[in-house]
Amino acid sequence: MAALVCAFSSAKSTNLARKSVRATTHDPKVTVVNHPLVAASLAILRSKTTASADFRRALQEVSVLLLGQASAAWETVPHQVETPLKVCMAEILARPLVLVPILRAGLGMLDGMLALLPHAAIGHIGVYRNEKTLRPSTYFCRLPSTIGEAQVVLIDPMLATGHSACEAVALLKKSGATRIQFICLVACPPGLEQLHSQHPEIPIITAAIDPELNDLGYIVPGLGDAGDRYFGTA
Ligand code: URA
Repeated sequence: MAALVCAFSSAKSTNLARKSVRATTHDPKVTVVNHPLVAASLAILRSKTTASADFRRALQEVSVLLLGQASAAWETVPHQVETPLKVCMAEILARPLVLVPILRAGLGMLDGMLALLPHAAIGHIGVYRNEKTLRPSTYFCRLPSTIGEAQVVLIDPMLATGHSACEAVALLKKSGATRIQFICLVACPPGLEQLHSQHPEIPIITAAIDPELNDLGYIVPGLGDAGDRYFGTA
């Protein structure tokens, strides 16, 4: 967690330390992960002076923490193991896992999650906005055959208009997925409303809910274009 150390400030010594106030929601299907390490990563990611290498590292680190929160809801089954001393009962995950990044920015959260779940299968969904219809169009979709029985985690750093996420969830459902969670880094009210108006049962796990979307579809204050910042294409 080296990047988080970089974000340590002297606020405490100057009596400025306080609990950060972050937007929450009354939607029971939305979890805002209120954790100091998440907040510290988010500070790095939001800052426009953060270089690509540090942005990548912070996005990977915060993704592990968000996945940790999401996985608390996963089902387990009893499993017998033999320790060096005795046979005992333990628990293992009940289902195979499938991580599905929405291209391209979702890839930025994948490596961190794979560190926690190296055996997860990976699907990919690419969605773009059709400039004529202004509707989301799928240009790529490749999902593992285990999708129907799996715990599926759809990932995209920014839940902005919500159109890509809606389209991706629809594709997952069409492919047979029944247990889907959506993990993002920053959401905003229009994106949350859009996703839950189409797919109200999907749990959403996010590090923050920012107040608004601007006319270009960017979350404000947000962190800018997550894909550009992660891939260094800004
Ligand atoms: N996508 C981004 O990368 N950033 C936003 O603020 C909105 C969508």
